[in-house]
Amino acid sequence: MTLKLVVRRSTEIAEGIREIALARPDDGPLPAHPPGSHVVVDCGPQRNAYSLTNCGIDPHEYTVAVLRRPAAEGAGGGSEQMHRFRPGDRVVVSSPRSAFAPVSTARRHLLIAGGIGITPMLSHARHAVRWGTDVRLLYVHRAGAGAYAGELAELLGERAQLAYRKGEFDVLLRQALVSQPMGTHLYVCGPPALMDEVLDQAAAAGWPPQRLHMERFTPAELDPGQPFTARLARSGLHVSVPAGATLLDALERAGVMVPRMCRQGVCGECRVPVLAGRPLHRDEYLSDDERAAGDSVMCCVSRSETETLEVDL
Ligand code: FES
Repeated sequence: MTLKLVVRRSTEIAEGIREIALARPDDGPLPAHPPGSHVVVDCGPQRNAYSLTNCGIDPHEYTVAVLRRPAAEGAGGGSEQMHRFRPGDRVVVSSPRSAFAPVSTARRHLLIAGGIGITPMLSHARHAVRWGTDVRLLYVHRAGAGAYAGELAELLGERAQLAYRKGEFDVLLRQALVSQPMGTHLYVCGPPALMDEVLDQAAAAGWPPQRLHMERFTPAELDPGQPFTARLARSGLHVSVPAGATLLDALERAGVMVPRMCRQGVCGECRVPVLAGRPLHRDEYLSDDERAAGDSVMCCVSRSETETLEVDL
């Protein structure tokens, strides 16, 4: 479902970061959502996914914070359009999607954020404070350039640790990974290198994968992959997918339209059933079980391990 909203505020909250508040034209209620949800926003020719910073209960506004990235950085290009939005502008967004919600049975939530990765964590932190759940935050950002740093320090007090330098962060991370009570779940969002480091260190410290949760909004540095052929069972078409092109692009070029929104492997919109062959999953949407089943593929980022992938199209 899409929502036609109006920009209520656009405010620079840190260097290169604008907070944009969206509401219904009549200021009526918006769909509620779990903490850590995101919306996909029409940004001119592009659609980008942005985390909502709201805690999700009875929202009358959706608030996102957008780091300006040059168009040359690919999926980040839509951020320039986001920065141009001003109060009164109309914006089309998807209804909120949840792929990064807190685990209700967790004994504690350990939130780790780098830079603009703080946005879903603010949503988690607000929710945790509202409902009195146990939460800790480790947030690394450049000195003076941390969005919401003051608000989080006020909200969480000693439960928030802020770091301004990598070395400082590394020390806090090591301590955090070995000092949590059993049953803690870890959530991480930020630049790919930081996320990989956190997840690797957590695994090395013995954290089981089911207690590690991540939110990636820029596709991890994806290699161009091997060429393969998509065999379309219903139409009988054979579509070549060269290295460096996505299955979604190849399908669209062949005139086969698939619903899609984010093109970043996060929204779940472009899921296509697989009938034969083995998908090479590169999305952030499917669960581990769904990946292992191998019976669907997110065609905007994922590819094929086998030379041919037969899909139900
Ligand atoms: S378009 Fe969003 S996951 Fe593919």
